[in-house]
Amino acid sequence: MEQNERGVWGSRLGFILAAAGSAIGLGNIWRYPYVVGENGGAAFVLVYVTCVLVIGLPVLIAELSLGRRTTLNPVGAFRSLSNSKAWPWVGYLGVATGVGILSFYLVIAGWTLGYIVRTLIPTTEDFTQFVANPVEELGYFLGFLCLTVIVVLGGVEKGIERWSKFLMPALFVLLLSLISYNLTLEGSSAGVEFYLKPDFSKIHGSTILAALGQAFFSLSLGMGTMITYGSYISKRENIPVSATAVVLSDTLIALLAGLMIFPALFSVGMEPSQGPALVFNVLPRVFELMPGGAFIGLAFFVLLAIAALTSTVSLLEVPVAFLVDERKWSRKKAVSIIAAATFVVGIPSALSQGSSELLTTMQVAGQTGFLSLMSHLFSNLSLPIGGFFVCIFVGWVWGTKNAVEEIKLGTGETAQRIFWGWELLVKYVCPLTILIVFLNIFGVFG
Ligand code: PHE
Repeated sequence: MEQNERGVWGSRLGFILAAAGSAIGLGNIWRYPYVVGENGGAAFVLVYVTCVLVIGLPVLIAELSLGRRTTLNPVGAFRSLSNSKAWPWVGYLGVATGVGILSFYLVIAGWTLGYIVRTLIPTTEDFTQFVANPVEELGYFLGFLCLTVIVVLGGVEKGIERWSKFLMPALFVLLLSLISYNLTLEGSSAGVEFYLKPDFSKIHGSTILAALGQAFFSLSLGMGTMITYGSYISKRENIPVSATAVVLSDTLIALLAGLMIFPALFSVGMEPSQGPALVFNVLPRVFELMPGGAFIGLAFFVLLAIAALTSTVSLLEVPVAFLVDERKWSRKKAVSIIAAATFVVGIPSALSQGSSELLTTMQVAGQTGFLSLMSHLFSNLSLPIGGFFVCIFVGWVWGTKNAVEEIKLGTGETAQRIFWGWELLVKYVCPLTILIVFLNIFGVFG
């Protein structure tokens, strides 16, 4: 540890991999394909990539610089740079969002564990029966929560960094091989067309909100994860370069995941708009068709579980860092209490895939089922709202001049013009775009 008692990433690459590990997870491989499927395919993908580059990247740089300057959790970061009592509430929103996202994310992460067990000990139960079994759902959810707790208790460097180093490249290679196999399946070209040939009549206000929400979710933005991770980086770190590496790798994995899923989906004749179960319905069918598919399926779900773990760890880290810094709790106490709360909040999500009729079929805010509702509320609303306030805070309260000074500690003066572009985005383009997307959803433009 070099800066203070809170811990610092062990190396530059270690930080990039940990931040990429937070970003790359179920958001890329589970959420992205089903959101693309629900929003009509290729045109949505273009809107998504635009949101990532124009909004995601600048917000990521803003969050990292805020974290590194203050070396604090999100609540403390906002408090220490402003005199107003209102700003820490953006941090509290982030802490609550961390628990909210974790509560349903762990249910899906539990499915990956379930699949691993089912490959090792084959059953006749299909996916629909599996997710409708309350004992299995709650058991795997709890199992994944325990794994997350073990890693987070290990602390920043040993706990989180060590895991991210080798496994992300392995996931990448496996994705490439699955894509090349799936593209040879009969009828797969319809999937390629759905995924890559844009039909712009499918873009509406809600499509843009979904793309924005997915960009925030996938890059772990808008709830202070990257403020917290930024608080553990050293002053020598080149923030813009690291942020760009994280954004590119995250987006590449998502784009590849789509290319893996849609050709296979059309080939086995399923619906693209079937919601959260999509990947779990399609992939096992592909593994059945493939020679050696059981082994490849096992490898795939093991890597997916690990990718999910490096994300659940970063979600849990936000409320934990808050309680440790602000309330002076021990790490152990903070982790146990947040984990217990997360489990309670997650129970309805775990029971919303067939176990409970009410939770499975409820229709709220255009979403069917409790888990979809949570995913919509926290990703599409809470995260962009958090991101909006990060922009206002860094752009206008702390000030981009101060932020640039902080960022320059690791880049030197060379990048002057880039900073100018970034200031423009953070002060005007990002907050205005988010605002317009929201006003549009609430019908302000008719
Ligand atoms: N980005 C993670 C994923 O794509 C999820 C996440 C969201 C993690 C928000 C932290 C904060 O799986």
